[in-house]
Amino acid sequence: MRIGVLTSGGDCPGLNAVIRGAVLKGTKIHNQEFVGIRDGWKGVVEGLTMPLDRHSVRGLSKQGGTILGTSRTNPFEGPHGGPENVQATLDRIGVDALIAIGGEGTLAAAKRLTDAGLNIVGVPKTIDNDLDATDYSFGFDTAVEIATEAIDRLRTTGESHKRCMVVEVMGRHVGWIALHAGMAAGAHAILIPERPQSMDQIVQWVQSVADRGRAPVVVVSEGFTLDTMETAHSEKGLDAFNRPRLGGIADVLAPEIESRTGIESRGTVLGHLQRGGVPSAYDRVLATRLGMAAIDSVMNGEWGTMLALHGTDVVNVPFEQALGGLKTVPQDRYDEAAILFG
Ligand code: F6P
Repeated sequence: MRIGVLTSGGDCPGLNAVIRGAVLKGTKIHNQEFVGIRDGWKGVVEGLTMPLDRHSVRGLSKQGGTILGTSRTNPFEGPHGGPENVQATLDRIGVDALIAIGGEGTLAAAKRLTDAGLNIVGVPKTIDNDLDATDYSFGFDTAVEIATEAIDRLRTTGESHKRCMVVEVMGRHVGWIALHAGMAAGAHAILIPERPQSMDQIVQWVQSVADRGRAPVVVVSEGFTLDTMETAHSEKGLDAFNRPRLGGIADVLAPEIESRTGIESRGTVLGHLQRGGVPSAYDRVLATRLGMAAIDSVMNGEWGTMLALHGTDVVNVPFEQALGGLKTVPQDRYDEAAILFG
């Protein structure tokens, strides 16, 4: 069999470790041949390939990014999109089966293509850790490490100047990175999309820290909104501050905190720093295991399924289950963290 491997959607530390795990097990144990599909679904639609063998994956588990490249191309769009065209392209480049490594959008496309008869196995990828079907996704642990280190550093400069430091981390729909990095770094408030808060509450947390002579640290997910005006504004694609949703919330909250408390405040947006560089040891191991399990699924013809971590086991789940919903931060996990606020 000739197996194509692609990475699609936003990149994530650990993608290369998945590729390496699949190729090493596939060549050493199953004696299969691989081909790299470049730039996600774009490569499938346009037939863009690169060699992928044991030599090309040497030392790859610690390398950030993806050697295959990625894109947000939808394989159902454009003149060469759609299942028939994609199948014709795969036939032309001699690919019998695909391992698609990606997030919700990638897996949704993979499901539609599998429903139309294509041979695809999925591997979930998201630093946000928001896929319900898997307990953890690789990239999340690395992102939390990076964010925690950044918050630790921002705390010392905040303490020196007696400033309130507002740190924005990734998390469009869910607050897992904020929750874990905020708890690890001892944040005085953690603001996540699942739990809108009022400006009064935020100010109260900040003020109580300043009253003890400390420099407040607020960690906020990019998708956080205030609990006021939420509905009316979200319908227009705006957040409670009347700005386009997503990104830059730290730079809006910091001056608001400063004007309400008189405490000098600074916002920092960590952004794509959280997706770059070497994966943590945990993510390397998880990603490698998922890659190895993906090749087993291909050998078993388990098309239309994705690998997932349940407890400490890597298991196979159908795409329908994988796309069943977002894994949000439960109330009790937030309440537990909130004991430490203020
Ligand atoms: O992978 C999801 C994510 O990390 C979100 O938290 C963030 O909104 C998004 O990626 C940003 O991705 P990009 O700038 O690559 O579109």
